Amino acid sequence: MPLSLPRRTAAAAALALAGLLVSAAPAATAVPTATAAPAPALAAPDIPIANVKAHLTELQSIATANGGNRAHGRAGYKASIDYVKAKLDAAGFTTSLQQFTSSGATGYNLIADWPGGDPNRILMAGAHLDSVTSGAGINDNGSGSAGILETALAVSRAQLQPAKHLRFGWWGAEELGLVGSKYYVNNLPAAERSKISGYLNFDMIGSPNPGYFVYDDDPAIEKTFKDYFAGLSVPTEIETEGDGRSDHASFKNVGIPVGGLFTGASRTKSAAQAQKWGGTSGQAFDRCYHSSCDSSANINDTALDRNSDAIAHAIWTLGTEPTVPPGDFYENTADVAIPDNGAAVTSTVTVSGRTGNAPATLKAAVDIKHTWRGDLVVDLLAPDGTVYPLKPFSSSDSADNVVATYTVNASSEVANGAWKLRVQDRAAQDTGYIDSWRLTF
Ligand code: TRP
Ligand code: ZN
Ligand code: CA
Repeated sequence: MPLSLPRRTAAAAALALAGLLVSAAPAATAVPTATAAPAPALAAPDIPIANVKAHLTELQSIATANGGNRAHGRAGYKASIDYVKAKLDAAGFTTSLQQFTSSGATGYNLIADWPGGDPNRILMAGAHLDSVTSGAGINDNGSGSAGILETALAVSRAQLQPAKHLRFGWWGAEELGLVGSKYYVNNLPAAERSKISGYLNFDMIGSPNPGYFVYDDDPAIEKTFKDYFAGLSVPTEIETEGDGRSDHASFKNVGIPVGGLFTGASRTKSAAQAQKWGGTSGQAFDRCYHSSCDSSANINDTALDRNSDAIAHAIWTLGTEPTVPPGDFYENTADVAIPDNGAAVTSTVTVSGRTGNAPATLKAAVDIKHTWRGDLVVDLLAPDGTVYPLKPFSSSDSADNVVATYTVNASSEVANGAWKLRVQDRAAQDTGYIDSWRLTF
């Protein structure tokens, strides 16, 4: 029986509590905490690399037919948008073109919504579709554009019914300074922004001499990607080749949790990196970055394949997370004896399935039975060990029991993880036990 669980199983918790009472053991010793069983995760499909590459072939053809590039304001950009939009429309997405002006030319963002899911919890994935003027931009960023396109088409093939609403975006004029994504975010009312629970960015995911870089941003998103690569036994590193140099920055700047993948641009692969990933040390991850040779040949198929599958894994994993709305609680009802004038004891509540940080108004409701509560020092410990004092020692407070709800500003803490209530009795004679406690988000 899980001891730490969201409210939908509160009835079961009540039964468990009743069981404890019937068994009538005096205050029990610390009971190891179980985690709420997560809903079984739907496995993401394998994304067919042949399909992803077919999109790149199309984008190359579009560039070739339009002066060799797909840059903002050029015919090749609009043709790229039309190609992607037609695929999504045929697959049942609701698409819209957003127009903006930059450097005197019309730019376009393409937004594709998958019908259904919780409109108040939107999971978004995006990639810039424009190239620089010097080349076709097949790795930068045909790769990310094709990876999210094929993932969106896989969502349609699976007729996925995710808990969250899924939205995909192809941005214009990234190469002019994240212009399209900034325009999108700036034109979203604050209420709409706050519904986006996460934005995943994919800019350059098929570099010819690849590294496997994960953005170091939202911890839950980062972990989702790292877990995927760990499953392949492919080591990853944190992306450091310019935080803020792609469209995720537009979202991050307004407080939306972000993450993403990257296989490297003009930076040089080190010997240690070549050791773990293969490829050529002393050479750029992408020697054709922003140049005319960023064409169909400028792709490492293995990197493109792995990253495309990682995108699908993230969409399936994060998109199908069960809804845990604000107000749900996680609790531990197992009794923990508090030794008289002795060592601190803890009771653990494991929080899972949430995105981002804990709220500024995290509520810790404590029910401690004790015959002189002034003896007790009570703290809340965040998963990273940060201590939030709830109640100090008092030699004069002779009342029974600590039955109280404390509000904690936990907004700098990751929500998911093992939270502990720590209680120490610091004076001899009176004793008690932790009866139960809960965290309400
Ligand atoms: N599109 C980016 C650019 O043209 C490429 C890039 C450089 C990048 N560094 C990055 C993308 C780090 C993601 C993360 O500058
Ligand atoms: Zn790019
Ligand atoms: Ca005591």
